[in-house]
Amino acid sequence: MNQAGWMLVSALVLGFLPPATPVCPWEMAELENWSNVDTWLPGEIPATNASVVIPAGKKIVLDAPIPRLLTLTINGTLVWGNVDGIRLETSYILVNGEFHIGSEDCHFDKTADIFLYGQSNAPEMVSDFGRKFIGAASGSKLEIHGEQKQSWTKLVETVEPVRMGSCGYVYDSRDENLGTRLGLHIHVWNFDGTVYDTHQYNTAGTSGQKKAKNMVKYIAGTPAGKIIAVAVYRTMGVPSPIFDELYTSIESLGGWKIRDVEEFEPYVLLAETGNTSNAIDNLNKRYGVAGGLDASAALPIGDLVFKVTSISYNTNYFDETIFRVVHKVGAFPRLSFLHNVSSWHKGDEIVVASTDFDWKQAEIRTIVECTDCADNQVRVDGDFRYSHFGEVTFGVDERAEVGLLSRNIRIEGELQDQCYNFTSEEGYLCDRFKRDTFGGHTQILKGAFARIEGAQLRYMGNQHEIAQYPLHFHMCDDVPGQYIRNNVIRDSNSRCITIHGTDYLEVSNNVCLNHLGHGIFLEDSAEQNNTIHRNLVIGTQHGNLLYTDRHKDWCEIREYCNLLSSIWVSHPNNIVTENVAAGSDGYGITLTFSDRPLGLSLQRQKDRGLYQDRSTRYIKVKDFSKNVIHSNKKDGLWFDSRVSYGQTEDGVFIPENAKIGLNYYSPREPPNAEGQLVETLLEELTLYKNDERNSWLRCGNVAIVNSSFADSRISYLAAHSTAETSCDVRHSIFIGQTANKGEPLTYIFNDPQFEHLPKSERPRHHFDQSFAEDRP
Ligand SMILES: *[C@@H]1O[C@H](CO)[C@@H](O)[C@H](O)[C@H]1NC(C)=O
Ligand SMILES: *[C@@H]1O[C@H](CO)[C@@H](O)[C@H](O)[C@H]1NC(C)=O
Ligand SMILES: *[C@@H]1O[C@H](CO)[C@@H](O)[C@H](O)[C@H]1NC(C)=O
Ligand SMILES: *[C@@H]1O[C@H](CO)[C@@H](O)[C@H](O)[C@H]1NC(C)=O
Ligand SMILES: *[C@@H]1O[C@H](CO)[C@@H](O)[C@H](O)[C@H]1NC(C)=O
Ligand SMILES: *[C@@H]1O[C@H](CO)[C@@H](O)[C@H](O)[C@H]1NC(C)=O
Ligand SMILES: *[C@@H]1O[C@H](CO)[C@@H](O)[C@H](O)[C@H]1NC(C)=O
Ligand SMILES: *[C@@H]1O[C@H](CO)[C@@H](O)[C@H](O)[C@H]1NC(C)=O
Repeated sequence: MNQAGWMLVSALVLGFLPPATPVCPWEMAELENWSNVDTWLPGEIPATNASVVIPAGKKIVLDAPIPRLLTLTINGTLVWGNVDGIRLETSYILVNGEFHIGSEDCHFDKTADIFLYGQSNAPEMVSDFGRKFIGAASGSKLEIHGEQKQSWTKLVETVEPVRMGSCGYVYDSRDENLGTRLGLHIHVWNFDGTVYDTHQYNTAGTSGQKKAKNMVKYIAGTPAGKIIAVAVYRTMGVPSPIFDELYTSIESLGGWKIRDVEEFEPYVLLAETGNTSNAIDNLNKRYGVAGGLDASAALPIGDLVFKVTSISYNTNYFDETIFRVVHKVGAFPRLSFLHNVSSWHKGDEIVVASTDFDWKQAEIRTIVECTDCADNQVRVDGDFRYSHFGEVTFGVDERAEVGLLSRNIRIEGELQDQCYNFTSEEGYLCDRFKRDTFGGHTQILKGAFARIEGAQLRYMGNQHEIAQYPLHFHMCDDVPGQYIRNNVIRDSNSRCITIHGTDYLEVSNNVCLNHLGHGIFLEDSAEQNNTIHRNLVIGTQHGNLLYTDRHKDWCEIREYCNLLSSIWVSHPNNIVTENVAAGSDGYGITLTFSDRPLGLSLQRQKDRGLYQDRSTRYIKVKDFSKNVIHSNKKDGLWFDSRVSYGQTEDGVFIPENAKIGLNYYSPREPPNAEGQLVETLLEELTLYKNDERNSWLRCGNVAIVNSSFADSRISYLAAHSTAETSCDVRHSIFIGQTANKGEPLTYIFNDPQFEHLPKSERPRHHFDQSFAEDRP
């Protein structure tokens, strides 16, 4: 009898066919409802602040809302029920057993929220993981599978801001010469969009009380039936009883949040005088990860939309108030994309990348209802401040990437509005970052099995300690089949995704927006065979954890620092394809290796028989192709330097993780000093509008092929790594200046010969395009 026959016979004998494994986790056998008293030992229904343990062998489905927990330890199985709107608040989730939200074949399509809370001294902590985490311990299973959505796409038409002369333009304060006094700025409009009056009151200065009184009179004297807008320029001053009358006066317009405005917080109000029913006011309390923040409001009246924005980074350069009137045709622009975005819905947020030198031109918008959109189009809730290029220009694809920021599984770390410190080290971080940087984190340990997709993670990571990142595989060795896919990691306090001591991980289709420190990070210069594919990384800003994360001004020995990178590739034996590095305060993608595995990986590689000194100098780059690198402050691509393993060079000790010297890269087959020289190919790259250079290579037989370079002062700067190696570029195009002009620039001549003149009287020239480092 053949095997099928045997199975049939045994099925007949046993009287049933073997049960199919359920596709959806909530269909699992033996599940007990969390909400059922019988599920728990008598008297142990988890109440507020309970420390819940799901014992081994027990399987529970989270079937209804629950109170805030203190801690959650899953030794058995916890399945997220197929129910909308459950929020799990806890200081940590320790998974020793299994935790499922959806499965690979049954994507969870309701909303789920996980909120990790607690401060840096919370007693709720677990060795190996620390505080405020989702942790997958050895032997555990972590399955998170949200809806499958188009993670990001590209514009196929240029998006233009509504400017003077363009369709929809009615009024823009930036076209006036209104001056910039600290304090409160006011615009009053007639209903037809014409300006009735404008004013500025320096409530932050020494005569703040007098200015506040004047403003009260001004508001009282403004007739009914006008549109009034108020915005903070940089700061309205320290909140104080001297403002009581002003607060009352602004409240009489409908500005209810005015009393909460503290120093350097952006606040705006838009209202109709004499009628508070339409009034809108917005205050942004939290210091955003970008190091500053804004508040804005829009009020549609008839065919017009009145708008006001306050931007307070607390620096001269960025701070601004903007008052605008736009016709509704320009106020809700329609965007056209390369892909079908029918998986994007009304209310979802998107980020449109900068296509200019300054990555901070990336803009976030919310999708609104659209009755005239095709499957590759959406409308958004506001016009754009900057243009975002949407064309292939002279053969260079400079179409702006557009990332979806919303996912239905939402994991958030708690941050306090005010920075706090229990130690002087934490005090240093408060001084450095001016905000709370102690978020939540997710960590996977060796022997766990984790697949995470379709989740959004916000305010995760912390600057206090290493190893606490939004998503982090920690010393896992080989993890084939495990992945981090199609997630959004936004406003992280430490990195985006960390691959540490882990091989064969897939990291694909993720969107990273705003993080401190390197974004996608291979930690020990020993991680291999990982696939980093089609990730979009925007907003990489200096962090404090490693020398290479830090700004050079934060380092006693500047040479150690300043190699911040959106994608930190520290070992050549990885697949890095189709990623976009679209905005770093440092570099876009770096290929910088260490001569030895760093940190914990030295012993790990020795134990596995995989340790060979200096091997990174000789290994070919496995696959580095189709990456797009633009709008980075320093070089787009950096293939040079090494990371010190704590070594002495030329008689000088360089501490571990500091940047050191040249790379001496010289790929060979077999990969050792005696091998035959071979070529490393970097293929089909696109590099444009990187502020310092598009690329810098210390090339040991590195050839760039089929690539395009454009719109930078220097596109390719290369030097040999060793005498016997060479550099090459083949089948590539270099375009000095494309049709992507970027933002207009008014250049003011500041040469010493003009120093005696006030700024307003110095010679200036208006350009209709941007320039690297603003230097025409
Ligand atoms: C759990 O609750 C659901 C919905 O209330 C119910 O249909 C199901 O029978 C319950 N399961 C058990 C094991 O009690
Ligand atoms: C839960 O714990 C918090 C923090 O200790 C406390 O403020 C709150 O009152 C507790 N709630 C209950 C219901 O015990
Ligand atoms: C949960 O599992 C861990 C790891 O196996 C174990 O150390 C711990 O004692 C268990 N806790 C309970 C309450 O069973
Ligand atoms: C105030 O505005 C609302 C909304 O536009 C309108 O319905 C209402 O009539 C107005 N009230 C007065 C007194 O004009
Ligand atoms: C876009 O995707 C949706 C969902 O997969 C599909 O129904 C629709 O036909 C697609 N539209 C186009 C134009 O391909
Ligand atoms: C908090 O930080 C400040 C500034 O570094 C320091 O002076 C103070 O001692 C710190 N507080 C504690 C409790 O360590
Ligand atoms: C990486 O993969 C290659 C085969 O492609 C294998 O020989 C090597 O041992 C792997 N290295 C690690 C560290 O996993
Ligand atoms: C570059 O492109 C050309 C023409 O499309 C193709 O023949 C060649 O194989 C490519 N070279 C590499 C190294 O990808």
